[in-house]
Amino acid sequence: MKVVLGVSGGIAAYKSALLLRLFTESGHDVTVVPTAAALAFVGAPTWSALSGKPVATDVWTAVHEVPHVRLGQGADLVVVAPATADLLARAAAGLADDLLTNVLLTARCPVVFAPAMHTEMWEHPATQANVETLVSRGAHVIPPASGRLTGADTGPGRLPEPEAIFAVCRHLLAQAASPQASSPQPASPGPAPTPGDLVGTRIVVTAGGTREPLDPVRFLGNRSSGKQGYAIAARAAARGAAVTLIAANVALPDPAGVTVHRVESALDLERATQAAIDEADAVVMAAAVADFRPAAYASTKIKKTHDPADPDAAPVIELVRNPDILAGLVRAGGSARRPVIVGFAAETGDADTDVLTLGREKLARKGCDLLVVNEVGTDKTFGHDDNMVHLLRPGSEAVVDIGPAPKAVIADAVLDAVRDLVDASAPPSPL
Ligand code: CTP
Repeated sequence: MKVVLGVSGGIAAYKSALLLRLFTESGHDVTVVPTAAALAFVGAPTWSALSGKPVATDVWTAVHEVPHVRLGQGADLVVVAPATADLLARAAAGLADDLLTNVLLTARCPVVFAPAMHTEMWEHPATQANVETLVSRGAHVIPPASGRLTGADTGPGRLPEPEAIFAVCRHLLAQAASPQASSPQPASPGPAPTPGDLVGTRIVVTAGGTREPLDPVRFLGNRSSGKQGYAIAARAAARGAAVTLIAANVALPDPAGVTVHRVESALDLERATQAAIDEADAVVMAAAVADFRPAAYASTKIKKTHDPADPDAAPVIELVRNPDILAGLVRAGGSARRPVIVGFAAETGDADTDVLTLGREKLARKGCDLLVVNEVGTDKTFGHDDNMVHLLRPGSEAVVDIGPAPKAVIADAVLDAVRDLVDASAPPSPL
């Protein structure tokens, strides 16, 4: 398919050479449109050699081919990586002072911006307002990653890895190639979410299953794959939220544009969550947290014949309770402004009580703002790509059933509810 790769003038321009390779190696026809400033970082010969095409930056080259209109009109996808603060401002203002901004005005295909800049520039209200404007017009903005920036600084502002940007673009190209795939699924509870409706929202998501170490080679664990939590983090980032994902033992690649902290035990997860929730608007506790851990950790492997007096004796492992992290977050909030807190309830039901009744009891016990109840069992949910859940709210008898549906569809439905709760808890505007 026809891709225009816009490159604006930031040090991360070199990473776009790798992004270009990913496109060309997948058979796409890529035209690179660098800004004049981008050429100060990576020269035209590099773009030309890697794309196999001439490279123009101004509207005066090959005028007879009318490139300032033709390129945008003919593209199946335009991706700008890195997108500097200046480029975002020019795009949001609708300027057309070089070839790339002309392409952006004439393109009617999906447009993706991957911003990269210093943290202060990214967080500046002017840049955030420009991002909001672009997203409100349907552009996809991949939030920058956190980490080492040019010089000694660290913070949000890094260009996500080329593979992560490529994954977003590949998904959009696949949707464009088969529009059927992008239409709402019958299981979806409502219309497709508005792109960018979570810009300005900070969400912490926990995912996976904790492991409680017993000795250097053994742990107590659970079957959670982390797929549902990862889907929530990925969809939240794609909808514009700033997302921190705390992943407990998940064997999945980091979702694009998400800051990921990897943890092992419940106590690690509690520490990481508490460190991340400062300033968060919502916390989604999708992780399966072990309720108990071994009372003592053996620093050397527990041997089969651990008791010389009775070589056949099986060891008795004493357990102690782990903190209930979710209930702790609710308690810590008190009456002050606290994030919207979403719990998950994995229930099997039993002979006397059905899954929904157990869910309501858990919602009352935990005191969170939304409970996502899913029915689990060895043949259900764990590791599968589809899920079926019920959303419960305190003080309401209503149950919203979602699915069976892909975990991304479930994620969007949970995020719709989170967005509504965050909006409802925002202080009234002074205007
Ligand atoms: N949770 C938590 N800390 C724990 C246990 C669970 O924060 N120690 C959170 C989970 O992340 C989830 C919710 O609480 O969002 C419910 O988890 P679940 O295991 O279903 O509930 P439990 O409180 O463990 O209750 P029970 O074992 O009785 O079902």
